[in-house]
Amino acid sequence: MNVQIKKAHRLSGTLQVPGDKSISHRALICAALAKGRSHILGLAHCEDVNSTIRCLQDLGAIVISGKTDTTVEGKGVLGFKKPAKILDAGNSGTTIRLLSGVLAGQPFESQITGDDSLRQRPMARIIEPLRSMGAQISGVDDQFAPLLFKPSTLKPALHRLKIASAQVKSCLLLAGLYAGATTVIEPAPSRNHTEIMLDYLGVPITVNGNMISVRKCDRIQSEIIRIPADISAAAFFMVAATIVPDSELMLKNVGLNPTRTGIIDVLKSMGAQIRLQNLRKWNNENIGDVLIRSSRLKGIKISGETIPRIIDEIPVLAVAATQAEGETIISDARELRFKETDRISATVENLTKMGCAIEARSDAMIIQGNQSLNGCSLMSFGDHRIAMSFAVAGLVADGTTTIWNVECCHISFPEFFEQLRSLVDG
Ligand code: S3P
Repeated sequence: MNVQIKKAHRLSGTLQVPGDKSISHRALICAALAKGRSHILGLAHCEDVNSTIRCLQDLGAIVISGKTDTTVEGKGVLGFKKPAKILDAGNSGTTIRLLSGVLAGQPFESQITGDDSLRQRPMARIIEPLRSMGAQISGVDDQFAPLLFKPSTLKPALHRLKIASAQVKSCLLLAGLYAGATTVIEPAPSRNHTEIMLDYLGVPITVNGNMISVRKCDRIQSEIIRIPADISAAAFFMVAATIVPDSELMLKNVGLNPTRTGIIDVLKSMGAQIRLQNLRKWNNENIGDVLIRSSRLKGIKISGETIPRIIDEIPVLAVAATQAEGETIISDARELRFKETDRISATVENLTKMGCAIEARSDAMIIQGNQSLNGCSLMSFGDHRIAMSFAVAGLVADGTTTIWNVECCHISFPEFFEQLRSLVDG
């Protein structure tokens, strides 16, 4: 399926984007590990989260998913059963990596795999540290899914991560529930939703700077968990409302966890007008409303500890950078090459096709500003965030932009085009 986007003259409206995907995965996994009934309000209904639901059901949890209220009958930390089939994480890196931490500690054999894209993504980053905890885990060439888990008894370990990855960190913290005394030291802070949720559900977890330690836990509380709107979904509209002239947009109940708000900080340092209002907390996660007005941007340099805080927003930030005054350099971003597609290549290829001056380095992109974009025919590369980033580019391009294979938006944001249309119509 393709979608055609025309230049927009103004965006306006108030809306709430779907529930945070990262927090949704964690809420489901923790609720399935809890004893008794949990209620998850505002769960993201998208393919990635559905993959987590299906895997948990195959492990014996009862998940009943309603439009706004999802109930989970948890089985307890040691209550899962041997799945009758190979678990399928679909396209979801978070599903396979987080669940691997749980599967490693089970007294039964299991296997987990995913689609073509997921089977090409690096898994040595979880295989090696899980093995150091005593897990009997194997993958294709010790690097890729399918992953096979043999029954193991895990032991405590200290992990010094080489890359800032919340998926790897969360995998090891979940394994720590079975191993006891597990410490993870990150090179830079990555999203900390697992830590916040485990603490909220009564698991003994301590955080000291970049060092996180979890102890063995055989009882996780069942609770009501409210899921904030996903800042990574909101990011497409934040950039759109910034670069389309005369726009004003209000996004409600957006998750504002400081490990995720890099998109707001970066846009503000580029000159965007963004105001946060009605700040409060839901189950220890910061949330608030975000008001965005269009503004002139200037190019900047982005690197280091900011990168994990904007890791999913870099393609759409690259689109924003083409409309800024001067050059933008995004470096230290090698991890982008290991996402649903190689996002450095995909972003550079599509922006070049639209007529932009942009260069790729092994871990960086150098983007020239003040570019007028030409509408043209673009690939999504089967990557939801590439499809949505280039829909935003289409709003400021001359003529019509056609984006192919947009079904992939269902991975994280099935309502994207409908919500975008409502803003164009005002
Ligand atoms: C995620 C962490 C990030 C992010 C992904 C979701 C998570 O990956 O890119 O979309 O929910 O933990 P890494 O932290 O592994 O880079």
